[in-house]
Amino acid sequence: MCSNIATKASNKMWGGRFEQGPAETMEEINASIDFDKRLYKQDILASQVHAQMLGRQGIITEADAKTIVSGLDTIRAEIDAGTFEFKRSLEDIHMNVEARLSELIGAPAGRLHTARSRNDQSVTDVKLWLRDKIDEIDGQLLALIDALITKAEANADTPMPGFTHLQVAQPVSFGHHLLAYVEMMGRDLDRLRDTRKRLNECPLGAAALAGSPYPIDRHWTSEQLQFDRPTENSMDSVSARDHVTEFLFFAAMNAVHLSRLAEELVNWNSDGFKFVNLTDAFTSGSSIMPQKKNPDAAELLRAKPGRIIGSLNALLVVMKGLPLSFMKDMQEDKEPLFDAADNISLCIRVASRLIDDLEPYKDNMLAFLDRGFATATDLADWLVVALDIPFREAHHITGELVALGVKSGRSLSEIPLEEMQAVEPKISDEVFAAISNETSLAARKCFGGTAPENVKAACIRARERFLTTSKG
Ligand code: ARG
Repeated sequence: MCSNIATKASNKMWGGRFEQGPAETMEEINASIDFDKRLYKQDILASQVHAQMLGRQGIITEADAKTIVSGLDTIRAEIDAGTFEFKRSLEDIHMNVEARLSELIGAPAGRLHTARSRNDQSVTDVKLWLRDKIDEIDGQLLALIDALITKAEANADTPMPGFTHLQVAQPVSFGHHLLAYVEMMGRDLDRLRDTRKRLNECPLGAAALAGSPYPIDRHWTSEQLQFDRPTENSMDSVSARDHVTEFLFFAAMNAVHLSRLAEELVNWNSDGFKFVNLTDAFTSGSSIMPQKKNPDAAELLRAKPGRIIGSLNALLVVMKGLPLSFMKDMQEDKEPLFDAADNISLCIRVASRLIDDLEPYKDNMLAFLDRGFATATDLADWLVVALDIPFREAHHITGELVALGVKSGRSLSEIPLEEMQAVEPKISDEVFAAISNETSLAARKCFGGTAPENVKAACIRARERFLTTSKG
């Protein structure tokens, strides 16, 4: 027969007005325990603080408050030990904990839910969880920034081809290239810390939506839970999810940045480039082609924005057009949050290791530079400065020399002086020093340019900016 017909007794926690229990599929769509059990530590902590506040304010007795707090300690230990039985019929972490509390301590458990609602409870739990996660990811990002700076310092003098349109453009320092990612990670870190600042207001006590008629002390609970202040408006407290959305934007942006790094690693490691060698630790073999060593970790790093942007998109779409205040729709904030947080943290940790292991094949980079006529711009600039030729004309002359090189399979510095002079008679042999990679790099010492001395100074500044100043 149809298993969907409700036969259970109504819910003990809220079922006073119900004659029947929920349909099975109702339970399936309604329950969040399968994923929000992850919030148990935060849920228990917030409940303990809430109970203490009720006791301090004389809303419940101090004795009941104490019994509740120690009962909750027992529950935390049970969940830690894996002996706690989570029940879908109890919907979520809040009711699973409260139901067990009532088994453990009896009547006082029924007083815990005075002056609060699952609406303020749920958002408080998520904020506490997210705050810890943000601090964890903050440290992981700093480790990645450290790895990038360390590698950049070691390679301030390593010339590599810089690309535009994935065509060889000009020589750059490999260290300079890595420092570009330090800037991206630094801005992402800023966004992450900004998110933390804004989320750190305590919703507890907003209750269902209107606040509470009991003489609660929201400032005290907020302080105990290390929030900066209680949230200002009770309706906003239970309705807002922008702290989650902002974090998801941070994660999406950071994942996109890391995917660009990953794509570069895949390119650099490919047979066509061979600028770097990805080590055995982060590559894998093929089940059929014995010679293969595939850059799987970098490829997965490249792919992760798919699900992380999906999470951001999912929550924005859930929230769009929702009237105030709490709606069950908002329970859908948690899975995207957990999935994105887990994955961005993994991506950052993997990226750190990939950077730690990165060793450039300097000779291959040099050969690539030559083949790509990377110092053609330097040649044109030399014609301008040394021979006083207008830049447009210098550009054209250089283009002719490049064409000569392409036709004859030689790099610019392999074209003999006489052949150059056949194109432009005033060219002298000083040109060869002007078109070396070293000269090209060293010349770009404007602030932010790729000159090795700049790169070394930029590494020192980056350490100061990100790794030695206190968290801001
Ligand atoms: N499990 C819910 C959530 O994750 C808790 C809030 C439920 N509140 C309610 N009135 N049904 O958001």
